[in-house]
Amino acid sequence: MPPASAVKTVSSGDSGLALPQSLIGKSFDKKLEELSRPIYAFWALHSRLASGTLVEFTLRQRSTMKSIISAALAACSLLLSVPSSFAQSQTQRGEYLVTIMDCTGCHTPGTFLGKPDMQRPLAGSEVGFQIPGLGIFYPPNLTPDPETGLGRWSEADIIKAVRTGVRPDGRQLVPIMPYHSYGKLTDADAKALAGYLKGLKPVRNRVPGPVGANEKPSAPYLSVVMPQ
Ligand code: HEC
Repeated sequence: MPPASAVKTVSSGDSGLALPQSLIGKSFDKKLEELSRPIYAFWALHSRLASGTLVEFTLRQRSTMKSIISAALAACSLLLSVPSSFAQSQTQRGEYLVTIMDCTGCHTPGTFLGKPDMQRPLAGSEVGFQIPGLGIFYPPNLTPDPETGLGRWSEADIIKAVRTGVRPDGRQLVPIMPYHSYGKLTDADAKALAGYLKGLKPVRNRVPGPVGANEKPSAPYLSVVMPQ
């Protein structure tokens, strides 16, 4: 326990969310804010597109009130637009899942070095995770490149790996890849996610490792350090 003077409660009604004094009043580094901007810009554009579709749909619905002819036209255009808007929403759902499940956070080059390379999203990380006594594991390339990514994996292979951590060759992935949490994905979401990955631009990028516990790593890695 730090001494009572070292911590300060954020607000009086707060149930125990306390910050060490050294962090109070600190703001995010300007650079960090700039780095995260592309992600937010992307997201903002994405949600604007989504709301655009919603507005269009609402207008068509209203026009059905005005006359029978426009009602018929609206129904036709609605029917015609069903397949394409369904396909779009599958892709959008996949993109949304990749964002909130933070695949990008681990599998995009540069993320752990403070410079996510948004020209090569999900093309694999050059920074690995160390599991003491086991080795170092680098988040692989998830783009459909056949040599260095998931190009030879089927959607079913991807779904199995995401939900159970089992690769097509039978190897169990280490649980740094959060398949224990992802196991609860619904069938529809799993399909949207895998379909989205298969539709990415293929990027050629072979990640390092895995590196065994007794091997010398040639690329950076994250590790847990116990305080002395
Ligand atoms: C906390 C970091 C982390 C997150 C978040 C994460 N992964 Fe991973 N993932 C890894 C690591 C590390 C490996 C490699 C594990 C190993 O080699 O045993 C991996 C492996 C994989 C593999 C196997 C690829 C191969 O070539 O063997 C797939 C597929 C995969 N992840 C998909 C995803 C998807 C899809 C998401 C988001 C829904 C995701 N991962 C989120 C860290 C992560």
